[in-house]
Amino acid sequence: MLLEKMLQSQGFGSRKHCQQLIKTGAIAINEQIIRDVKHKVKLDDLTFSVYDDHFTYREKVYIALNKPADYECSHQATHHFSVFDLFDTALMNRGLQCVGRLDQDTTGLLLLTDDGQFLQALTHPKKHVAKVYRMQTADPVTEQQIQQLQHGVELRNESGRFAATDVIALAEHSLQMTIHQGVYHQVKRMLAAVGNKVEQLHRQQIGALELVDLKQGQWVYLTAAQVELAKTRMTI
Ligand code: URA
Repeated sequence: MLLEKMLQSQGFGSRKHCQQLIKTGAIAINEQIIRDVKHKVKLDDLTFSVYDDHFTYREKVYIALNKPADYECSHQATHHFSVFDLFDTALMNRGLQCVGRLDQDTTGLLLLTDDGQFLQALTHPKKHVAKVYRMQTADPVTEQQIQQLQHGVELRNESGRFAATDVIALAEHSLQMTIHQGVYHQVKRMLAAVGNKVEQLHRQQIGALELVDLKQGQWVYLTAAQVELAKTRMTI
């Protein structure tokens, strides 16, 4: 692939801007500055630098973020920060999107990608990708509430019933449950439907991909194996 095209594909701006970067000596491969705009690169395991910042060529990007509270999953955040503030311009130029949304006050595992097919695979209502949430509740969690959540509840303006699986009381005011859809405020509304209230919500897992070592606000690129884990679905 032409170097200028490769740079463009990785979010470094228009073709003209990428040509400019090359001509001014900003681009190096294997520590060698390349000034030839017609230079061709092999994409396998390609690493390069732009003004001494190092990058790896990625056809598509798959990112796991431990979302902090007070961040919105929207490009035009109104009252809080946007999760997109956590990423550099090159990533944003690639058209990074959130895979589903977490509320502004929800923390935990949020995936982001520029791969439309991956986004569709994880968010399509018929795919039933499992999402594991942990929460603090205002009132003690009762056995009756657990059974109601497992049996399914109705939510206003939504058709059908919404059930959770693997509903586990972690402490008197703490609950973990798995849901397989993703309608607006689903977990909070399900808890409200059984007479309790979510005080704090955290997403721990998507598909078979679990959040383990990331601190809030930190993100990593997913490996190909982790991308597959996220797509692993469980149907109810
Ligand atoms: N359900 C909610 O109510 N909020 C979230 O952020 C995610 C799921």
